[in-house]
Amino acid sequence: MTVTVLGISGSPHRHGNTETLLDSFLDGARSAGAVVEKVVLKDLDYSACRGCNACHKDGECIVKDDAIPLFERMMAADCVVVASPIYSMGITAQLKGFIDRGQFLWARRFVTKTLEFSPEHLARHKGIFISTAGQNRDNVFDGAYPSLTALFHDAGFEYYGNIVANNMDEHKGIKNHPTALADAFRKGQTIVAEIEKLKTQQGI
Ligand SMILES: Cc1cc2nc3c(=O)[nH]c(=O)nc-3n(C[C@H](O)[C@H](O)[C@H](O)COP(=O)(O)O)c2cc1C
Repeated sequence: MTVTVLGISGSPHRHGNTETLLDSFLDGARSAGAVVEKVVLKDLDYSACRGCNACHKDGECIVKDDAIPLFERMMAADCVVVASPIYSMGITAQLKGFIDRGQFLWARRFVTKTLEFSPEHLARHKGIFISTAGQNRDNVFDGAYPSLTALFHDAGFEYYGNIVANNMDEHKGIKNHPTALADAFRKGQTIVAEIEKLKTQQGI
């Protein structure tokens, strides 16, 4: 029973704190037998949502760029792991721009009513948010969570949880954090085992 995991990196900084934490999760998932892929948003070509509401007519986005195939890849995966550092108390422009482009999924769910997810589908499709922040404040990630809720719910994923590490300024980088990378690796392993079990139970 193969579990597929898609990592989406929303940091414009290649191989920085956030992508490194994401990589650790993906390594854990791979070690548990998952088929793993990673996409880096800054390397894709997509524009911000125009707010034209064309998707309200037929559930299709009229802007044909790299965002649409990525939503298709995402929805074909069992688990999606979305990563962004905290920028100005929220997610990066790259990730917010991508999430806004998912408005056509919202339109399918709530306007054209052509997209619906069963409780079983939601249970076996897991969404995870990974983030890092410079400051040592517990609430530094709070501004990010609602956008991820919107993304996961519209695309048919249960918002499974967050893997976050703050205080990067003091640690001088994720590699000096005492536990974050090992924790992310273990969580990657755990989630694959959990999805595998659910797929077996559901006969998928
Ligand atoms: C434009 C910008 C805005 C930032 N805003 C915040 C912020 O509001 N709060 C915070 O704790 N850290 C902030 N940071 C620090 C980053 O979140 C932190 O260094 C993070 O670990 C960077 O991850 P990366 O290596 O993947 O880029 C900001 C960094 C940049 C470049």
